[in-house]
Amino acid sequence: MADGSASLPEDLRAAAGALLASRTPVVLTGAGISHESGIPTFRDAQTGLWAQFDPQALATPRAFRRDPKLVWDWYEFRRGLIAEAQPNPGHFALARLETLLPGLVVITQNIDGLHHAAGSRDVITLHGDIHRNKCGANCQGDPTPVDIRLLDWDRASGPPRCPHCGAFVRPDVVWFEEALPPAALERAYRLSERADVMLVVGTSGVVHPAASLPLIAKERGAAIIEVNPQPSAITPITDWHLAGPSGAVLPQLVAAVEASGPGKR
Ligand code: APR
Repeated sequence: MADGSASLPEDLRAAAGALLASRTPVVLTGAGISHESGIPTFRDAQTGLWAQFDPQALATPRAFRRDPKLVWDWYEFRRGLIAEAQPNPGHFALARLETLLPGLVVITQNIDGLHHAAGSRDVITLHGDIHRNKCGANCQGDPTPVDIRLLDWDRASGPPRCPHCGAFVRPDVVWFEEALPPAALERAYRLSERADVMLVVGTSGVVHPAASLPLIAKERGAAIIEVNPQPSAITPITDWHLAGPSGAVLPQLVAAVEASGPGKR
């Protein structure tokens, strides 16, 4: 590749070449890509009042039925943590990659909305988005979005009521014991089956069904590129494991794709 990227590590150059040559690239991201935006992972977020609670005991339909105010207040606390967070260079690099590789889709397990904030346009949010809310009974269809900015209620009392049916409003995120949004999951499966390259960023690869997507892509012959400072459950099936923080590695990877882009081979 006569583009001055000779100083890049060979595996990064090779991975960039695979992305440039791909026709059906797809990206899968996890909590790690938001680590450098200062967002604690799901389990690290438990501080102060919330330190006494197990997050997996709060993020369930049963917990919300039992104590809607407790669960709602916990999400309001987490929304506060995320409100300060900004996309980091890793998010911006993926948004840039989408302009270089038309048709690129980002499948994310994250609920922080940072891919959209960074400018990525085609994002599948497998576990929902903490900024969105919906009717707890999905009374108008699954999901029934509710914009709480339009509602007037006593915020100290916990969640507002759905304006259509009166059920409690809840965050539009996937809880433990809940199915993932069918349309999002079906599209993620289809894209993984058709992928010729999958870029996997910042996921431990242990939470299914998201963790099965790289396996599906691999079985169909895709090349797997992983960006993660640590090995993960995905590492054994990767063609390239770029070991480093995504905020540093992704800008280099995308710059190498751009430097070798159309007309520069
Ligand atoms: N850059 C890239 N990867 C990183 C970085 C970084 N700066 N920092 C940490 N990581 C990696 C870790 O090495 C780990 O492999 O990110 C991964 C985070 O793993 P998890 O915390 O398990 O996050 P994730 O894989 O997204 O979890 C899946 O489980 O917590 C639930 O529903 C929640 O969507 C989440 C799901």
